[in-house]
Amino acid sequence: MKKYFIKTFGCQMNVYDSQRIAAILETLGYTAAPSAPQADLVIFNTCHIREKAAEKVFSDLGRLEIIKQERAARGLDTVIGVVGCVVQAEDEQIAKRAPYVDFATGPLTYHRLPEILAKIGRCRGTTIIDTEFPAESKFDFLPPNRSEGGCSFVAIQEGCNNFCTYCVVPYTRGVETSRPVEDILTEARRLVDGGSLELNLLGQNVNSYHGEDAAGKERNLAYLLQRIHEIDGLRRIRYTTSYPADVDADLIACHRDLPKLMPYLHLPVQSGSDSVLKAMNRRHSAGQYLDIIGRLKAANPQLGFSSDFIVGFPGETDADFEATLDLVRQVGFIQAFSFKYSRRAGTPAALMPGQVEEKVKKQRLEILQNLLFSLQLKFNKESVDKVMPVLFDIKGRHKGELVGRSPWMQNVHAVLPASARNTIVKIRIKDANVNSLSGEPQD
Ligand code: 5AD
Ligand code: SF4
Repeated sequence: MKKYFIKTFGCQMNVYDSQRIAAILETLGYTAAPSAPQADLVIFNTCHIREKAAEKVFSDLGRLEIIKQERAARGLDTVIGVVGCVVQAEDEQIAKRAPYVDFATGPLTYHRLPEILAKIGRCRGTTIIDTEFPAESKFDFLPPNRSEGGCSFVAIQEGCNNFCTYCVVPYTRGVETSRPVEDILTEARRLVDGGSLELNLLGQNVNSYHGEDAAGKERNLAYLLQRIHEIDGLRRIRYTTSYPADVDADLIACHRDLPKLMPYLHLPVQSGSDSVLKAMNRRHSAGQYLDIIGRLKAANPQLGFSSDFIVGFPGETDADFEATLDLVRQVGFIQAFSFKYSRRAGTPAALMPGQVEEKVKKQRLEILQNLLFSLQLKFNKESVDKVMPVLFDIKGRHKGELVGRSPWMQNVHAVLPASARNTIVKIRIKDANVNSLSGEPQD
């Protein structure tokens, strides 16, 4: 029986795609291998968002070449595939820099894997490349998704039409498309029947969702959330990643009306400076962002917010950076991801004047992260002595320990029987640090 190994780089959408690729391979008779050297087929699912992420793919591919040679010396054949956003952006580079790669497909064409794998047998020694933006939707060709445990992802939307001037996503994942409501509900019900208690609805711009219902009528994310909320057995719903300007009144009302919707929202602002936001081609100002946060908080005072930030965008001055720090203090984010601006070929910002020196970017990132970490620590410390429902889905490093997520996406460690895995347990929080909480079950 042939074995596969998939290594996933990047975002949650890639994690979801890798699960779907695994399901395709299993219909072809493959089983999972614990590591690359034990696999007949190794697939890298890649990320192109920042230069570092893309370069990591190429350096890790170098290691795969050695594995391929070592296996060949033992008389074992190894097929190497690269999928995802690096392929869409750099297909020729892959064939040039890593000619031992047998096939490369973009994020929208991996449903063609069965045909591609059949073709490889006939044309070894060349890299088969499929980076077309297909007319068909890959979702119509994928085998049914299965529950991977207590929390599952469901892709509901893909691609982006926003064209923020720093971002490769509209070029790698293509224009925005939404899956039909009924297809999503079928997948969601199947995952809940398979044991998922929490569903995380995914999309690059998830709140611009506008899929068709059974009658062909376009529906928004709020409608979809309401329908998903009706699924018996489902306990928690999340959605990510949202675009501030597309947060509408219906969605805000969901945070008031739907108890299964978790009180945590990832809503990237990127910068607190209006001139930087304008240069980034974001369709919101800092003031509009704060207004949306205020309306969401009024709908559900329990809501905690997380964000993405970019420091050192071309033209960013000290005053612009200060405006970002101000906005962070005003919102009091409970978690955040922050990055130094990375120049991506083909995006408008790569050619903008006023590129910021690496040294300055580094300093700003450090200052911002210190502030963000202090807010995160403050929020986590406030959790001590509180009792909260935690969905435990992974084993901890210590014996008998499970790790789960609080409603606010905090990692929570607790010593529990193995049978508590993939269940929700009420935990009294005893201790907190920046990255996690620990506690004991509440009788
Ligand atoms: N440089 C740095 N960060 C970037 N992001 C997207 N493109 C870039 C870039 N060129 C960040 C944004 C986005 C997150 C997924 O990655 O903050 O929200
Ligand atoms: Fe990239 Fe902007 Fe689209 Fe997010 S909204 S995927 S940052 S272009």
